[in-house]
Amino acid sequence: METPDVLAWRDGYIEALDQTALPHQIRVLRIASVGDLVDAITSLAIRGAPVLGVAGAFGVALAVRQGRREGWDAARLASEIGRVAAARPTAVNLAREVAAITASADLADPASVERAALAVLDTANRVSRDISVRGAAYLRECLRDRLDAPLRVHTHCNTGTLACLGWGTALGVIRALHEDGVLGQVIVDETRPLLQGARLTCWELGQLGIEHRLAADGAAPFLISQGLADAVVVGADRIAANGDVANKIGTYSLALAARRAGIPFVVAAPESTIDEDTPSGAQIPIELRADEEVTTPAAPAGTRALNYAFDITPADLVTAIVTEQRIVEPVSLEINCR
Ligand code: MRU
Repeated sequence: METPDVLAWRDGYIEALDQTALPHQIRVLRIASVGDLVDAITSLAIRGAPVLGVAGAFGVALAVRQGRREGWDAARLASEIGRVAAARPTAVNLAREVAAITASADLADPASVERAALAVLDTANRVSRDISVRGAAYLRECLRDRLDAPLRVHTHCNTGTLACLGWGTALGVIRALHEDGVLGQVIVDETRPLLQGARLTCWELGQLGIEHRLAADGAAPFLISQGLADAVVVGADRIAANGDVANKIGTYSLALAARRAGIPFVVAAPESTIDEDTPSGAQIPIELRADEEVTTPAAPAGTRALNYAFDITPADLVTAIVTEQRIVEPVSLEINCR
């Protein structure tokens, strides 16, 4: 069976592949109201920074349609659009695309809003290929002394088509290395508590025929210390102006381990994930999610959790940030790839 689109605009409503059901079930959600879209975003049925940006753009189009149907005034429309923007706080793409469409499109003209939203989807598809190719070329250059053997890459969370459209970001880089014929094995962290690595990345890699092994998150620094990876490649939810990177919880420990092992730690993300208005990681809002995501099923009833969904990797642990336009090496490191 062909996999349905991750996200699509279908004549007045949104269709989304329900990422909470994968990999065991292919379920498509039909979203016709702002409330349903906010639920889909907060439950992570729709997720991943670039896809959240597209969902935000579609959300404005949806709000305009719903507002017309239900006779909302301008204040109600603005407040419903605000709910979409605030559904998840860390990935800057969501609020950014909502703000961009709200500022540029004519909210009195649903067709113009829909055109603008579809352009955001097209851009997400296009830039992912550029990030993938540039990132793979950078890594081949960086690891030129190791190319006599197939490269082994460690990754975290899910950064493929499901999260970004197109080829993805970090997973797109991995896919480009595979297409170049230089990739050996990928190590995928399971990515607790919601298991985006185990459920989604393993599913995508399986479909692409890319060899991979699943690792418990806690094993990752040890595996890196044992020389099982030549590089770590991850995505980002927001990159501050100074190069600090917010990404799925567990990313920071990979960066520390990569530095200790002397291997590159590369972040692949679209330019739209770079937030010049946020000076450093200290100002990035980190989403705190429900205790139950962590406590279920193992902890005794009443156990409280610390469920931060993202962490901050300081810029001085980042070898390079690869976007569709450039490669930024935040600070000069002992790992000098160029
Ligand atoms: O909570 P999620 O699944 O939306 O988190 C996704 C990630 O952390 C990804 O690594 C990130 O968005 C970067 S690339 C899609």
